[in-house]
Amino acid sequence: MKNKVYIETYGCQMNLADSEIVGSILNKAGYAITRDIDEADFILINTCAIRDNAEQRIRKRLRELRALQRARSTLKIGILGCMAERLQKQLMEEEDNVSFIVGPDAYRNLPQMLARTREGERLAETLLSETETYADIEPVRYDTNGITAYISIMRGCQNYCAYCVVPYTRGRERSRDPQTIVDEARSLFEKGYREVTLLGQNVNSYRWEAENGKLEAESGERKAESEADAASSNISHLTSHITVGFPDLMAMVAEVSPLLRVRFATSHPKDLSDELLQVMARYDNICKCIHLPVQSGSERMLKLMNRRYTPEWYLDRIDAIRRYLPTCSITTDVIAGFCTETEEDHQATLEMFRRVRYDYAYMFKFSMRPNTYAAKHLQDDVPDDVKTRRLEEIIALQGEIALENNQKEIGKTFEVLIEGVSHRSDQQLFGRNSQNKVIVFERGDLKPGQYAHVKVTRCTSATLIGEVVDNK
Ligand code: SAH
Ligand code: SF4
Ligand code: F3S
Repeated sequence: MKNKVYIETYGCQMNLADSEIVGSILNKAGYAITRDIDEADFILINTCAIRDNAEQRIRKRLRELRALQRARSTLKIGILGCMAERLQKQLMEEEDNVSFIVGPDAYRNLPQMLARTREGERLAETLLSETETYADIEPVRYDTNGITAYISIMRGCQNYCAYCVVPYTRGRERSRDPQTIVDEARSLFEKGYREVTLLGQNVNSYRWEAENGKLEAESGERKAESEADAASSNISHLTSHITVGFPDLMAMVAEVSPLLRVRFATSHPKDLSDELLQVMARYDNICKCIHLPVQSGSERMLKLMNRRYTPEWYLDRIDAIRRYLPTCSITTDVIAGFCTETEEDHQATLEMFRRVRYDYAYMFKFSMRPNTYAAKHLQDDVPDDVKTRRLEEIIALQGEIALENNQKEIGKTFEVLIEGVSHRSDQQLFGRNSQNKVIVFERGDLKPGQYAHVKVTRCTSATLIGEVVDNK
């Protein structure tokens, strides 16, 4: 009988995508992926290190799993992902029920490591790579709705924002061969998927240089496109190289099918180009939603965070989005209480939220991470109760803005990709519009995977409620 592996994933979408790669690597090596933890021979926990509470949650989970291990002495537990990379052997010393630690660039070693842990060894592999992209591995979508999927297009980050642990846990930035990305999107479409999200920590710096001819030879269809399209395409034909940037890649994926929606995350404001916005405007199936993490509205804070843009630059990018893509939704990440943040800095963040009027925001309290620039050079000097109060003020303001934005959608009709049955009632379906807003409506004879036109009749700050107006 095959050995069974149960994978539990924490953290960002990149980790979800990585778990599917891990699933694929282990599948090929003869392991079965199970969704039932009680029948697992191995439990792999793909972890996040972004904030201290993310790590505390994993520590708690490891304590809970001890009971399972007591009941089944052969059960092995492994730690994957960013916390594995950050803590390495320390984790092995502190958590004696863990058999193996594997960093994000070492997943190809998993089959061999699992085999060795069965012999009783305890192992750690945390070497980061400058080239690993797992480009040749087709992820196993073991926990899927069959309609939406993530595609990892690059790995790593070298922006070194002062607060952030990611450059240390994920290593240098590297981009994946575009042809493998397009092939993966096409294969998903053929299996019935209708939406892909291209993932990277800073997708705007995606860049692939191919030997002359390689890419052209493999994308003959693209070459046959009309003159006008070729002129507007962004692939620069240099004498010895073809460079594929992120706008090119978006166009390539969008052309897989008009019925395949394309999303992406995340954009760093310093690199968000007009060229990308133009490509987004050109394709109806590129979703009109941009996640543009602001982090702070204060110029002084942004500088201290090493974000490399000013509030003016950020607002200029917002203006450009509104100009090229008038229906586009805009979402963000923000941190309350970064080192030395004053009341005035905080007010600047609130002002930024009032100016931009985000459709959604992920809002965090600053958490000092070991080894970052902030940990080495700055003081975590904003008291916790002040951080909490500032965060609450941002959350309250954003709640009002999101509700007002949603109220403006009442009466509008959107094309919705149906993703599943509503959690509240099996008589209702839910899906998302291009702007990534969730819309709930009566089921009728529709089913997940179809597109429907839905007119919004009511809303909350988080959800639109509507009725189907015509069935495509
Ligand atoms: N690459 C993305 C974000 C990745 S991490 C980008 O640059 O936008 C997701 C979010 O977590 C960040 O945008 C930031 O808002 C938050 N974050 C990162 N480090 C943090 C820390 N030390 N404390 C609190 N929030 C943090
Ligand atoms: Fe972290 Fe900054 Fe890289 Fe985003 S861009 S992952 S916040 S270092
Ligand atoms: Fe967390 Fe690593 Fe993602 S630290 S947010 S899982 S890149």
